[in-house]
Amino acid sequence: MTTSRSGAVQAPQGSQPWLHQEGREIQPFDSVRQFPLGLTHDARLYSCQRLNQILADTQILYALYKKHHWLMRGATFYQLHLLLDKHAGEQIKLIDEIAERIQTLGGIAVGDPRHVAEITRIPRPPNGCEEVPAMLSRLLEAHEMILIDAHDAATRTMELGDDGTNDFIVSDLIRTNELQAWFLAEHLVDTPLVRA
Ligand SMILES: [Fe+2]
Repeated sequence: MTTSRSGAVQAPQGSQPWLHQEGREIQPFDSVRQFPLGLTHDARLYSCQRLNQILADTQILYALYKKHHWLMRGATFYQLHLLLDKHAGEQIKLIDEIAERIQTLGGIAVGDPRHVAEITRIPRPPNGCEEVPAMLSRLLEAHEMILIDAHDAATRTMELGDDGTNDFIVSDLIRTNELQAWFLAEHLVDTPLVRA
């Protein structure tokens, strides 16, 4: 048996994996590598910063959707239980696309949930259960925070020449959040169920 510089233990021959390895950080968060994309370093760094804010907020929105999917109750339990899970699934797709856009630009996507919690601006819900309309209202407000940020980020990234980020934010992020906000908002209309 031999020991590597980092203390990992390896068998001298055969197929024994190197285990318990440790390494140094090779790219800090909030930096971008030089990629040949026809975009300046500053434009790519700016896009990554804006996208990481949206990524952190979207990860929290996804978590809120799952929390409320689980805690849902009442007469509309079934449809809301299913709807919130559908929205969660669409948000998790966006999370991957935002993160991979950041990586495409040479940056580092925020991934660890404890790091996400440090970055997000979406208010933390109670650990327990709120009334159903309050849950839906909380989700709507999270959508609007993301949408306000996304509209501004779309404009600013386009001004810096990052058309790909602008297109993603407008075509995928904004449209998905707008549609989900509509579906939630319709559940907060106080309309008679049987008699007009
Ligand atoms: Fe579920």
